[in-house]
Amino acid sequence: SPLAAACSSSGAGGGPKLLKSALPLPQPFQVPLPIPPVMKPTRTDGGTDYYDLTVRPADVEIIPGHKTTIWGYDGRFPGPTFEARSGRRAVVRQTNALSVPIVTHLHGGRTAPESDGYPTDLVLPGGDMAGMAGMSSAAPSMPGMPKDPRASVVTGVRNYEYPHEQRAATLWYHDHRMDFSAPQVWRGLAGMHLIRDDVEAGLGLPDGDRELPLLICDRSFEADGSFRYPAKDPTLLKTPGVDGAYRGGVLGDVILVNGAPWPVVDVSATTYRLRLLNASNAREYTLALDPPPSGGQAFQQIGGDGGLLPAPIAHDSIDIAPAERFDVVVDFSRYRVGTLVTLVNRKDTGGPGSVMRFHVAKDGPTPAPLPAKLAGDFERLAPPSGGVTRNFDFTSGLVGGVMGWVVNGKGFDPNRSDADPTMGVVETWKLKSDLRHPIHVHLGNFQVLSRGSGGPGASDAGWKDTVLVRDGETVTVAIRFDGYRGRYMLHCHNLEHEDMAMMANIEVR
Ligand code: C2O
Ligand code: CU
Repeated sequence: SPLAAACSSSGAGGGPKLLKSALPLPQPFQVPLPIPPVMKPTRTDGGTDYYDLTVRPADVEIIPGHKTTIWGYDGRFPGPTFEARSGRRAVVRQTNALSVPIVTHLHGGRTAPESDGYPTDLVLPGGDMAGMAGMSSAAPSMPGMPKDPRASVVTGVRNYEYPHEQRAATLWYHDHRMDFSAPQVWRGLAGMHLIRDDVEAGLGLPDGDRELPLLICDRSFEADGSFRYPAKDPTLLKTPGVDGAYRGGVLGDVILVNGAPWPVVDVSATTYRLRLLNASNAREYTLALDPPPSGGQAFQQIGGDGGLLPAPIAHDSIDIAPAERFDVVVDFSRYRVGTLVTLVNRKDTGGPGSVMRFHVAKDGPTPAPLPAKLAGDFERLAPPSGGVTRNFDFTSGLVGGVMGWVVNGKGFDPNRSDADPTMGVVETWKLKSDLRHPIHVHLGNFQVLSRGSGGPGASDAGWKDTVLVRDGETVTVAIRFDGYRGRYMLHCHNLEHEDMAMMANIEVR
């Protein structure tokens, strides 16, 4: 087909590609850092908080002087932050007021399969169907992608239940619609979801306005301020047509933190807790502080994707791949009052080299030293000898005659089981890549055992649910699925790769 030819003419390989904005880029460090509001329950009872969330379009000002129509949870980009207590259940009633199907995944959540946001468990638009001519059907669009007879498709509203039976951690939620996650997240469907517990509360970490959620992503804009994206669905975004040049992933040339371009925030000369989330479709960052602080390293990492580390780890810079989280403490008392500290991106993937700015505006309380021990009871996962080992190979490959991305040579099929781990049993998984793929597993948290011929890398510490597998490398992890049986998944979190079939099914027994 001409499509296959267009796709393969860009080569089987190729990393993510920069999509330039059609408008002049705004000046950095002018817009104040927004903090997404914390979601308020509509009611609570003995053990449960109930939330009501409408997913709808809204016009917002992202680029000063321009209007952007976003799709947002509660009409916001990023969505409101959920704050949960470990062990306290939440029920989120989501209403789809968009003109397209959605499905929401709580990334990092220990969630029953019905509420996990499987890519075919769609919530169809519920309201006025006018203006939906040409809307993509609920059926998958990737050529050759099979239908899913087990899909739970509802119209208008779905209740997502989150038991929160898990340790304190930085989670996030985002759209997971099969074949369309990348354009729908690009449009704004992402937010933070924090879980807190008593262990964390006993550590005396910076809190209140000294705890900053930082949802980092890149976007590009049309001349009129709307989002620019090489959409395969013309109802989704303005730039028409599938563009095989972007099958490696889309990079924007504007960096947004909490939805604002290169924002600035005033801080006091004391410690802050930064919840770093890379919510980008395909961009990796190497985050550092410029200038670096005097007398010590820039970041004290206290947690990763799945919660607190056993002890803090000091980093000069942090490599963060799509969907990874780093929970870090930065000590601004090591700067003179008045210093402008830029959070820079040293990763040379094209486009901007800075992310946001901290202005050390005033003196602050003398910071308490970080506890030497964080998660006191940190459990190290050890696969039993003679246990199950599985291999997953992430490469380019044909899916229905089109060049997509495959796992063990196969594009995603919701009807096929690619792995059937037993609940509660530790397994060894070997993740191997042709290019760079950030690999995410639903439900199963894991620990990195080795990377290539060496031990875990600097970004690999602690409990993880997403790990970057680099070109030609094998990352070996110990993994355990806890709490639920049923259908989950494993996929690349480069969202363009994910939409081009780089997903596999896991049936937990
Ligand atoms: Cu963050 Cu399956 O996704
Ligand atoms: Cu990938």
